[in-house]
Amino acid sequence: MNSSEFFPFLTARASVREYRRDGVEPEDLEFLLACASTAPSAGNREAWDVIAVTDPKMKEALSRSALHQRHVAEAPLVLVVCARYDRSMSRYGERGTLYAIQDATIACTYLMLAAHARGLGSCWTGAFQEEGVRELLNIPAPVRPVALLTVGKGTLPLSRTGRMPVGDHLHRETW
Ligand SMILES: Cc1cc2nc3c(=O)[nH]c(=O)nc-3n(C[C@H](O)[C@H](O)[C@H](O)COP(=O)(O)O)c2cc1C
Repeated sequence: MNSSEFFPFLTARASVREYRRDGVEPEDLEFLLACASTAPSAGNREAWDVIAVTDPKMKEALSRSALHQRHVAEAPLVLVVCARYDRSMSRYGERGTLYAIQDATIACTYLMLAAHARGLGSCWTGAFQEEGVRELLNIPAPVRPVALLTVGKGTLPLSRTGRMPVGDHLHRETW
């Protein structure tokens, strides 16, 4: 892929919140994980893990912990992307918590773009009650769930969102 293909690839993605109930195969999950494992990470510690949730009752419970967002219950696959503080802090101490969150969020970004490359929709879902998700999925203390990525085939045409002018993000030399 060259740069003239990369930008259209990015702009062809949008969050998907209405899903078909089927349409995600085990090979899709393998592909997504293989892509995520190519992501950079602090000290190559790969301080992230993913819990793949497909069980309908579990997804309903996750949805309740995510402010009742329906796409969490209805997507065929929910990837709970977690920061592994233990992997990162063993080398970096306190700073490792920040690195683990960065590792997990870049892994989530790769998962999202890999889904898009695979013809699957996704929605990065950050609004959830952390303790509820932790309890439901039996997530141990040194691991922090940072995002729920819903994945599946969308049922509606993609709805595009606007962006602020790119120049508004840029500060040159100093703030
Ligand atoms: C950190 C983060 C948290 C988000 N949380 C939610 C969420 O809880 N529910 C939701 O429907 N979308 C959520 N989104 C998706 C954003 O609403 C969406 O990416 C944004 O509106 C831009 O739209 P687009 O993804 O279609 O380009 C989140 C995205 C990010 C990066």
